[in-house]
Amino acid sequence: MDLRSYIRDIPDFPKEGIVFFDITPLLGDGKAFGEAIDNLYEKFKDTGATKVLAAEARGFIFGAPLAYKMGIGFVPVRKPGKLPYKTVNVTYDLEYGSDTLCMHQDAVAEGEKVLVIDDLLATGGTAAGMLKLVQEVKGEIVGLGFLVQLGFLDGKDKLDEQGYTCLLTL
Ligand code: PRP
Ligand code: ADE
Repeated sequence: MDLRSYIRDIPDFPKEGIVFFDITPLLGDGKAFGEAIDNLYEKFKDTGATKVLAAEARGFIFGAPLAYKMGIGFVPVRKPGKLPYKTVNVTYDLEYGSDTLCMHQDAVAEGEKVLVIDDLLATGGTAAGMLKLVQEVKGEIVGLGFLVQLGFLDGKDKLDEQGYTCLLTL
């Protein structure tokens, strides 16, 4: 199945000059969405991860079903003011702005194996932020995966050392 054909290019969203890659057609097709989750599962099923970690909002859409399929826990990384318990926080740059991400400080145990998932890799700011949160609580990153990477941005260079897997390059 050609998953690329389920991603729609929207010019000048959310700002002039940005092409937004809209994954909602893929989400809306049961077979395409299922294949995306199954493909991520095949790539990460043997990592020994005991948690999948992903950031709101789009990361949750891929991270949660993958955690379910792997039979492991899910850690939500959220924007400020959403998590009720004590948090660790990180501020990072986006393709179109900057943001802060937070995680409960007890969500990942010291030495626990963590798989970090997101829908899309652009500048790598979000992914680098999630890795930092895991490092802060001394978790072990055993995988980093995306549905899509934007090959024309520098996220891949930022994450080169860490290493990652993606299903599609645009
Ligand atoms: C998008 C996307 C990734 C991130 C990628 O999230 O879901 O998390 O941007 O960009 P980066 O590699 O430059 O960090 P966004 O912050 O737009 O939030 P959303 O998931 O709530 O739409
Ligand atoms: N997240 C960051 N940059 C993006 C883009 N160009 N399209 C979709 N999601 C994004």
